[in-house]
Amino acid sequence: MNLAVIFLLLVIGDCSTSANTGVLYPYGAPLDNENMKADDGASSAITVTVPVFGRQYSSIYVNNNGLLSFDVLFNSKLMQPFPFADGTLLAPFWADVDNEISGGIYYRMSQNSSLITQNANDLASYFPGISYTPTWVLVATWDKVAFFNSTTNRVNTFQAVLSSNETMTFVMYNYAEIEWTTGTNQGGNSEGLSRDGDAKAGGNNGATISYFEIPGSLTPAIINITTTSNVEVPGRWIFRVDQSQVISPNVTSKQKEKACSWILRTMCLALDYWNHQHISSSVIKTSIF
Ligand SMILES: *[C@@H]1O[C@H](CO)[C@@H](O)[C@H](O)[C@H]1NC(C)=O
Ligand SMILES: *[C@@H]1O[C@H](CO)[C@@H](O)[C@H](O)[C@H]1NC(C)=O
Ligand SMILES: *[C@@H]1O[C@H](CO)[C@@H](O)[C@H](O)[C@H]1NC(C)=O
Ligand SMILES: *[C@@H]1O[C@H](CO)[C@@H](O)[C@H](O)[C@H]1NC(C)=O
Ligand SMILES: *[C@@H]1O[C@H](CO)[C@@H](O)[C@H](O)[C@H]1NC(C)=O
Repeated sequence: MNLAVIFLLLVIGDCSTSANTGVLYPYGAPLDNENMKADDGASSAITVTVPVFGRQYSSIYVNNNGLLSFDVLFNSKLMQPFPFADGTLLAPFWADVDNEISGGIYYRMSQNSSLITQNANDLASYFPGISYTPTWVLVATWDKVAFFNSTTNRVNTFQAVLSSNETMTFVMYNYAEIEWTTGTNQGGNSEGLSRDGDAKAGGNNGATISYFEIPGSLTPAIINITTTSNVEVPGRWIFRVDQSQVISPNVTSKQKEKACSWILRTMCLALDYWNHQHISSSVIKTSIF
């Protein structure tokens, strides 16, 4: 094998999976609560003061179908175009999830100081004009979840990190692995893919009928959301959401370093492809590691 390739594999580490897991905040047992296994289920109310879209809410629900909702549970599996009335939502990936078939939905409402520091530092780099320290951080993670009626191995792993100091509120969507875009009830085929009924990512303010959305929403292109970004970190989207007008950050030269990791990931994917074309990756692994 080419020495340059060996060197790159050593530098980059294990390329056997193309999942973008580096983008995720820590999650899972034993710190997190887990939603019950139930089609169209939700967490119980998480009681906290949270300004969203220009209004103060006093509780949050983590809904199984890829949504955070405020003061009321909202767990429709029928993705709708934004905006619509009667639903204040933050939607990392609204689609017909079924955690009875596969995966887990975890959440943690936390004041852990290292989590607060991580979130404050991330936001400071994207919103340089604002000096912000959250008082709490909610990490909600859909880990390897299947779609309703799935008989395939396709799973999605994504996260919403919501934080607030009770005046300002920010949400970060992190996409590690997106392999399906809709359940079979919404026109998806047996692989969870569709031509026009695909998942919706963004936010909807039912009170004033306003919204924001991530490009690709409700189209098959949403499957590539692990590679898109508004902060030059593939699979990461960040918004300030406390005001009626949602604010997207301005990416500056501070993000150069992070963009660099994107180049590494792209090389990783290319190597992955090369591995599959030429020799099995297990042969490469045993010959090097
Ligand atoms: C905060 O979270 C980190 C990482 O999960 C953990 O190591 C640490 O023990 C936690 N600190 C407290 C005070 O719970
Ligand atoms: C939240 O942070 C912003 C930015 O620093 C600040 O203006 C605001 O007063 C803070 N809110 C509270 C309740 O501390
Ligand atoms: C479940 O999936 C199968 C195979 O894709 C399909 O034929 C059937 O209509 C689906 N059932 C529902 C309730 O969506
Ligand atoms: C996803 O991205 C790949 C690589 O850029 C592209 O070939 C493919 O057409 C995209 N898929 C969709 C459904 O847009
Ligand atoms: C981004 O830049 C525009 C134009 O300079 C400015 O109006 C806006 O406030 C900036 N947004 C942030 C989050 O800094």
